[in-house]
Amino acid sequence: MRKTVTILGSTGSVGQNTLRVIERAVDRFEVKALAAGSRADILTGQIEQFSPKSVYLKDSGLCADLRKKYAARLEVFSEAEGLREFTKSADADILVVATNGASALLAVMDAIERGKRVALANKEILVIAGALVMSKLRSHPSASLIPVDSEHNAIFQCLQGNSEKSVEKILLTGSGGPLREIEEHRFVEISKELVVTHPKWKMGRKISVDSATLMNKGLEIIEASWLFSQPIDRIQVLIHPEAIVHSMVEFRDGAVIAQLGVTDMRLPIQFALCYPERLACEAGLKLDFSKISQLRFSAPNTRKFPCLGLAYEAARQSGSAPCVLSAADEVAVGAYLEDRIHFMQIPKVIEKVLSNHRFVKDPDISQIQSIHDWAVEETKRLCQVS
Ligand SMILES: NC(=O)c1ccc[n+]([C@@H]2O[C@H](COP(=O)([O-])OP(=O)(O)OC[C@H]3O[C@@H](n4cnc5c(N)ncnc54)[C@H](OP(=O)(O)O)[C@@H]3O)[C@@H](O)[C@H]2O)c1
Repeated sequence: MRKTVTILGSTGSVGQNTLRVIERAVDRFEVKALAAGSRADILTGQIEQFSPKSVYLKDSGLCADLRKKYAARLEVFSEAEGLREFTKSADADILVVATNGASALLAVMDAIERGKRVALANKEILVIAGALVMSKLRSHPSASLIPVDSEHNAIFQCLQGNSEKSVEKILLTGSGGPLREIEEHRFVEISKELVVTHPKWKMGRKISVDSATLMNKGLEIIEASWLFSQPIDRIQVLIHPEAIVHSMVEFRDGAVIAQLGVTDMRLPIQFALCYPERLACEAGLKLDFSKISQLRFSAPNTRKFPCLGLAYEAARQSGSAPCVLSAADEVAVGAYLEDRIHFMQIPKVIEKVLSNHRFVKDPDISQIQSIHDWAVEETKRLCQVS
């Protein structure tokens, strides 16, 4: 029996890579439903190729055109019905979450409640509501959450057969992003093109900017803390420019297990879809050790990249702080991409929003939503004046 798959964010970088994996494994997987934001042209191509039973396009105007074209063939949802209703109605075996931001939070909670497999690429959802998502997962043991983010997928693989209790430290690696070798005093003049061009990975624009500020590592330490039940101070970030070791786990007995591979998201996506099986990978996606002359590791420079320090601080505070951090980062990065603030203002704006927020210790889902909304509005306000 083929497993059915719904992809939230099918037109994005992870979404398109997921379809490339499925394309090679049509005997195992069937695309049941696809959701996108506004790229109707890409979605239309995916409908033609994968014949889903339903699609979601957030943009209502573009969605009306899609409805006219496909009314007889499939169900078309828009923002009016909502991503949550769309995901519920699709009800696939596997939900791939490749949207950015928090829009898929309720869809993820529902999928866990219905005992589904969630292949989670999105990192913001665990940052915003990690306590609630993990508690839902514990109360629905037939559901599973397999991380797609390459570092977390690597850690998940390193932990196979080992208890989380025997972990001494998680060593979360990162290439250092496009600004690793640029001196701090030159940040005033860096171009946006440089900032969004990651040296090792091809990704969407938001995560590319996060990689340049190292906020991406900041979000990842919070994500790892929830996924692997580790206190934040047991998660150490290491800069590893070769991006071959995707992360490591050090155990109490001093042993360190690492996961290595090429920098291609199809590998962790395929793992998350197939787990616990391992399918043969596509040609060209294997490491050639004879061509690897060095693997370097160093501590990150938190003075040069203050976003990482802000994330550690928010993670230690926990409660509502990570939700505010993530929402503020999303809006600040958007403002930077729209030329409303300078690159160097991103951490300043986030810090200000964090210090203006009224801390809540154990927010429930409705509090999370209102804290998130508050942080979005507060950041927009600061980005207008800063
Ligand atoms: N890219 C990577 O290699 C990578 C690696 C690890 C983790 N991640 C994480 O995975 C997530 C996605 O990253 P990405 O790089 O793939 O981003 P991306 O290229 O910007 O794609 C985002 C996708 O989400 C869709 N989308 C956004 N808001 C939506 C909404 N409200 N409803 C429905 N669809 C919506 C977009 O649709 P339109 O484009 O049609 O507007 C697009 O398909 C992020 O959380 C990121 O941190 C990415």
